[in-house]
Amino acid sequence: MSPFLLTRTLPEDATGAALRADVREGLTGSPKTLPPKWFYDAHGSELFERITTLPEYYPTRAEREILLARAGEIAAVSGARTLVELGSGSSEKTRHLLDALTGLRTYVPVDVSASALTLAGEALVAERPGLEVHALIADFTARLTLPDTPGPRLVAFLGGTIGNLLPAERAAFLASVRSLLAPGDALLLGTDLVKDETVLVRAYDDAAGVTAAFNKNVLNVVNRELDADFDPAAFEHVALWDAEREWIEMRLRSRTAQTVKVPALELAVDFAAGEELRTEVSAKFRQEGVRAELSAAGLETVRWWTDAQGRFALSLSTAR
Ligand SMILES: C[S@@+](CC[C@H](N)C(=O)[O-])C[C@H]1O[C@@H](n2cnc3c(N)ncnc32)[C@H](O)[C@@H]1O
Repeated sequence: MSPFLLTRTLPEDATGAALRADVREGLTGSPKTLPPKWFYDAHGSELFERITTLPEYYPTRAEREILLARAGEIAAVSGARTLVELGSGSSEKTRHLLDALTGLRTYVPVDVSASALTLAGEALVAERPGLEVHALIADFTARLTLPDTPGPRLVAFLGGTIGNLLPAERAAFLASVRSLLAPGDALLLGTDLVKDETVLVRAYDDAAGVTAAFNKNVLNVVNRELDADFDPAAFEHVALWDAEREWIEMRLRSRTAQTVKVPALELAVDFAAGEELRTEVSAKFRQEGVRAELSAAGLETVRWWTDAQGRFALSLSTAR
């Protein structure tokens, strides 16, 4: 079996320090916010995997459909010997790419979730003798240093995760991805597309309540890591469509007036009854917008594919 390497690219306390800074800034701001990357402890990663199998959550099935249809073409165009995947999670859909990329030597999954990387990486090296897996525990919004592996590289960013970044963050992120690409490398980007509001809202507010549990998990993370006393039951899961900005927002609405203590930050946070804390933005895209954002970062879209129902898109771009 080839080796499974797991590297933490940040100093041991960097995650703790970043969480403290984000929670302080987010809970003292107006409106209150928390960044979505803090959903993904081991339990949050497990909940996200359950979301991907829900009948309402079409993005995973739509993106898988495109990957199944186009993996051969992606392999032919990219000729990748290294696949880097940002926000790789379970690497479940990635298997279709790994099957098609016959010249691939190294897979570099990058995620904040150490548990997701370990589960996925150990399974992949056992399943695929000859494939080297070098996982990075890292924040993809920070400057990434990739291991020295053979090119060409294909950098994949699937699941529509790019929609969790705000427009200015997306521009900075795409510019930093562009700086990782050498001539001959490519970016494979998954973007969820604008569609009927009912379909969109249902995808983030499922009947079984799994997305609600996922949303509230961020409160459990803050409780555990910063000794806070959030009562998740005192908050209601909210998913709404912002038609102007063309994004879904997930929020947690305080059921009553309450004060939450965060002793690690010496913070007491007042919530009015009905006050909402924004936990995620999930932007939905149109083809011209994706092309324009890629172009502004110095990337040229060379392929654009959607599923048969036009719900989700995969694009392949190269550095200009
Ligand atoms: C919406 S899930 C998508 C997972 C998988 N790519 C898919 O398509 O099913 C987002 C993934 O990105 C990871 N993630 C979120 N924010 C991150 C960040 N700032 N840096 C690195 N990983 C992040 C999460 O842990 C999670 O695995």
